[in-house]
Amino acid sequence: MATTVTEQTGSDPRTQFAYDEWMESRGAPVYRGFFVSDVRTIDLGWWAERQCNTAFIQLTGQEGIAEARITEIPPGETLPPYKLAIDEVVYVVSGRGVTRVWSDSESAARTFEWQDHALFLVPHNCQRSFGNMQGDKPVRLLHYSYLPLAMSIVPDPEFFLNNPYPVQIQTSSLYSEAKVISGGGGMRWGGRAPRQDNYWYGNFFPDMRVWDKLDALQHRGAGGKRVSIQFAGSDMSCHMSVFPSRTYKKGHRHGPGRVIIIPGGEGYSLMWPEGEERVIVPWQEAAVFVPPNKWFHQHFNLGAEPARYLALHPLGQFFGRDERVEDRAKDQIEYPNEDPWVRQHFEEELGKRGLTTLMPDEAYQNPNYVWETAKV
Ligand SMILES: [Fe+2]
Repeated sequence: MATTVTEQTGSDPRTQFAYDEWMESRGAPVYRGFFVSDVRTIDLGWWAERQCNTAFIQLTGQEGIAEARITEIPPGETLPPYKLAIDEVVYVVSGRGVTRVWSDSESAARTFEWQDHALFLVPHNCQRSFGNMQGDKPVRLLHYSYLPLAMSIVPDPEFFLNNPYPVQIQTSSLYSEAKVISGGGGMRWGGRAPRQDNYWYGNFFPDMRVWDKLDALQHRGAGGKRVSIQFAGSDMSCHMSVFPSRTYKKGHRHGPGRVIIIPGGEGYSLMWPEGEERVIVPWQEAAVFVPPNKWFHQHFNLGAEPARYLALHPLGQFFGRDERVEDRAKDQIEYPNEDPWVRQHFEEELGKRGLTTLMPDEAYQNPNYVWETAKV
């Protein structure tokens, strides 16, 4: 089915991003605001072109930069294949299934299976089809790409969705085991600061809920750990943070376009523009939220278990210039400097659950407090 946008040569000027025009004309629901509480259960709508139920997620801070979309696959079914001219990351929200990927220049497809909390990349302009291997429950997938940004450069959906260019990718070499790269070299994310931490390089990560190959992230507090991922052969990247029960991370801010999904845990995040009211984002598994551009945000674990959040990155150009040590003072709030309400609210929320904080008193006194890295 043809897709159209306002013609560049037409009499009507475009009043919104080309991607937004396209997204809104698909007929499927569009979720806006600050968060979606559970993408496993949100209502979806029929998308005739793709022959599936779907929903677009366009939260504040994502517009014009990153696409997030939920696809459902009915029990036992396989969706028709489609192409996308740019790289696409897929996170398995729930279910068990199979992906077939092939380029138009290949005769055979690469096939691999996945289950809940898997993460993989489908390379640009390859055909891909997704199937549900279970007969009793649907699959839900979260798709993430830079389609809004791409359509701002070439405002023609067909260019991205039906491009005959026979990409020269050997899909047979994809989806082998990820490897660790020491020292940060080659990581496409990280602003101007040279990265020195290890990261994972690959196209398939079988279960982000149990992934335990993490490095300590001392500077963000709470004894948290994280893993950074650079998708092989792509500028796309992500990271996942894991932090202990009954603790919270430091408030910080950066650029737009990071779509966060929760693989596991229970808690909330605060998000606020400097000097203004805070938005409270409650979360548990399968919640999605986006910290708006340059808004401070801070993550709180109210559960009995470590919490983890997976942040799908926009391009490194949107990093937001924080994270350099010299910038941290203005883009990160140390515990001794935070509004006392932050701690008070956290302790009240724990109290409602019959729990108490595990944040050490000293962390609120000493800005150089050294966290013991938690066993998470
Ligand atoms: Fe952040």
